[in-house]
Amino acid sequence: MTASLYSSRAAASRHIQHEPVLRLENVAYTYAHGMQTKAALEPINLNIRRGEFVCVVGPSGSGKSTLLALLAGFLKPQQGQILLEGQPLNGPNAGQTLVQQEAALFPWLTVCGNVEFGLERKGMKRSERKKRALDTLELVGLLEFAERRVHELSGGQRQRVSIARGLVLEPSLLLLDEPFSALDVSTREHLGVELLELWKRTGTTILFVTHHLDEALRLGGRVIALRDGKMVLEGESSGITEPQLRALL
Ligand SMILES: Nc1ncnc2c1ncn2[C@@H]1O[C@H](COP(=O)(O)OP(=O)(O)O)[C@@H](O)[C@H]1O
Ligand SMILES: [Mg+2]
Repeated sequence: MTASLYSSRAAASRHIQHEPVLRLENVAYTYAHGMQTKAALEPINLNIRRGEFVCVVGPSGSGKSTLLALLAGFLKPQQGQILLEGQPLNGPNAGQTLVQQEAALFPWLTVCGNVEFGLERKGMKRSERKKRALDTLELVGLLEFAERRVHELSGGQRQRVSIARGLVLEPSLLLLDEPFSALDVSTREHLGVELLELWKRTGTTILFVTHHLDEALRLGGRVIALRDGKMVLEGESSGITEPQLRALL
């Protein structure tokens, strides 16, 4: 499996462009805990190029979700600035979509309805959004489940619907916060391979958060390691080993 993954990564890295889609300049965040003010994220500088697949890895509490919430526009940095497509980020919008650990799907809608939801909010007409939703469900291998209800799906299938719901909006940046962590190991590995395939086919820029070191190295072309809110390592995954990462985290 590893060999085929690496070959698919090499093929896909061709669509990585030089131009940064995302820039973080000295971005920091501190939650207010009464009197206590420990930084959840220390000032960080980062560029993500269009088409990259970057993994953010670190133990629980290292600031991974805080970083993603900032990038999703749910939190506002107290310091520094975030530029998406060269523009300062001003709250959540369709430019960046966030997929979280537990699929927050609408149980009263069908699978297709869930994927169409964001398009409907954008005001797209019914026939067009249905077509786009079905195309995206095909991409994640769930076309035959389009008219099913969410409760009929397995946990892995639900996460694929969540990813489809993010992808259908054609975001500049797809943010994934431990999307497979609630799943068993074999499903997690399988969905990882599928996600790489999806990335290869769509060229979407992906920022993927995980606390599994092996997953970070397998999926990301580049890996960013966080510990206690600090970036302790950043580099090409091909030049990083798992013991090296483990020693840092
Ligand atoms: N809503 C919050 N209010 C206060 N502190 C928070 C909140 N969310 C996270 N934190 C704290 O910020 C730090 C980083 O958390 P988080 O970004 O969730 O880390 P990770 O996703 O890597 O587990 C931790 O010390 C955590 O306790
Ligand atoms: Mg988290």
